[in-house]
Amino acid sequence: MPLKITLSRADAMSESVDVLAVPVPQRPLSQVELFVLLDGQVDSALFALADQGKFDGSAGQVLELPTLGRLRPRRLVLVGTGPNGAGDDDKVRRFAATAARTAVDRGAATVAVVLPGDEGEERLRAAAEGIVLGAYRFTKYLTGDRRPKSELRSVTLHGAGRISPRQRAQVAMGSRVGQAVCLARDAVNEPPNVMTPAAMAALARKVARDGRLRVKVLDRRGIESAGMQLHAAVGQGSTNEPRFLHLSYVPKGQKRKRLVFVGKGLTFDAGGLCLKPAAGMWEMKSDMGGAAAVLGLMAAVAAVAPKVEVHGIVGAAENMPDGTAYRPGDILGSLDGKTVEIINTDAEGRLVLADALCYARRLRPDLLVDAATLTGACVVALGKTYSAYYTSDDDLARSMDEAARHAGDGFWRMPLVEELREQLKSDVADLKHVGDRWGGSITAALFLREFVGDAAWIHCDIAGPVLADQPRALHPKGATGHPVLTFLRLVEAFR
Ligand code: BES
Ligand code: MN
Ligand code: ZN
Repeated sequence: MPLKITLSRADAMSESVDVLAVPVPQRPLSQVELFVLLDGQVDSALFALADQGKFDGSAGQVLELPTLGRLRPRRLVLVGTGPNGAGDDDKVRRFAATAARTAVDRGAATVAVVLPGDEGEERLRAAAEGIVLGAYRFTKYLTGDRRPKSELRSVTLHGAGRISPRQRAQVAMGSRVGQAVCLARDAVNEPPNVMTPAAMAALARKVARDGRLRVKVLDRRGIESAGMQLHAAVGQGSTNEPRFLHLSYVPKGQKRKRLVFVGKGLTFDAGGLCLKPAAGMWEMKSDMGGAAAVLGLMAAVAAVAPKVEVHGIVGAAENMPDGTAYRPGDILGSLDGKTVEIINTDAEGRLVLADALCYARRLRPDLLVDAATLTGACVVALGKTYSAYYTSDDDLARSMDEAARHAGDGFWRMPLVEELREQLKSDVADLKHVGDRWGGSITAALFLREFVGDAAWIHCDIAGPVLADQPRALHPKGATGHPVLTFLRLVEAFR
């Protein structure tokens, strides 16, 4: 049964729910009205517990107490919201996610959430997003004892004031946006034997159907006859043949701006003939994280119906070693006619993206953004929680920083170092696709730049944050849905 999120004007303390979640700002607890009030109802247990557990309302802290009949809600979950309370969308989203995650971990089916401070319309959307994101689990393949015993069914959001239809609409929208992020998570969490290029195409069709978007799918022959030799080559070593996907959202009205997002969709990256070592190879099931984010974005776009036109493009393939696989030394032509000398078959993402970017450029975008789990070097540079982005346009960089901050995604701008361009010179073709070891994320970005012409362009190397090895505010361990919310914000803020 899907999770139902509703607004309520009732007093949250009077609800007979499994969990009552309450925000606590970081200031002396004796000044936090609701804290004092609740404490009074549980024989001062809250002050005592806070003292023991060093709970002071700092962001993300949780204080729990079973109420054992003293209150109607069966468990109190107090969530710290930091020094300024939950004063922006990101903080509200985090608060709601922490509340939902804690409730799910305790096996709660029903939850009442007291909204922090200002429950303006946007905050309601952020709260609903946070609930859906925090409640997410990937349990599809668990059987018997491993199946969760209960499921979160209903969450009521409690704030003061009247409930307007617009507020209800914001909650509904937040819930759909949250689900769109979870669609991206599911796609990444699915094992590579299931999430093949053909399955990605089926998913794109479903996103299009549910969101009334246009969709175009090219199979291997379509990719070849369109002239995308680089994409075809990467996929030719696998029996799971490649797909090229193009979704579009076209609102009514004239002279609208056009945004195009491109995602790397390697449903598995074994490295091809330049085979990867066995340790950690399984993680390459997440090498379609960029594509998953683009599909999630398109589902979210369908939900928020922005005024701009949005296109989502995915190059899907599986990179495998085989007698038919492409080789180091091969020379192949890109969609825009440049020849590329293959150096290492494990640098396959930039090849698929090169063709997809050429295709994207033909749409004459006002903004072109790509997302790819492109390089291990990027993870070495920024760790598992930050992605790199590259752009030569300072205004775009500002938009990107704002979008990432609003979404709560880690993004850091990296330089397109001109000197390194040298490394992409080939003796026998226009370009080789790999430079030397140092600055590997930068040379990958410089290679992509060769294919974007004069488009306003942002490249995102998201190799780190797509898959998390520990839970954080918005997500459990595993797929995170990064950077769907950042991209959605870019779309909604675009002028
Ligand atoms: N998909 C990988 C990059 C990657 C590595 C993502 C680790 C997430 C975690 C990419 O296709 C790749 O193999 N890149 C190579 C490039 C090299 C051969 C120039 C890399 O980073 O080692
Ligand atoms: Mn690779
Ligand atoms: Zn890869």
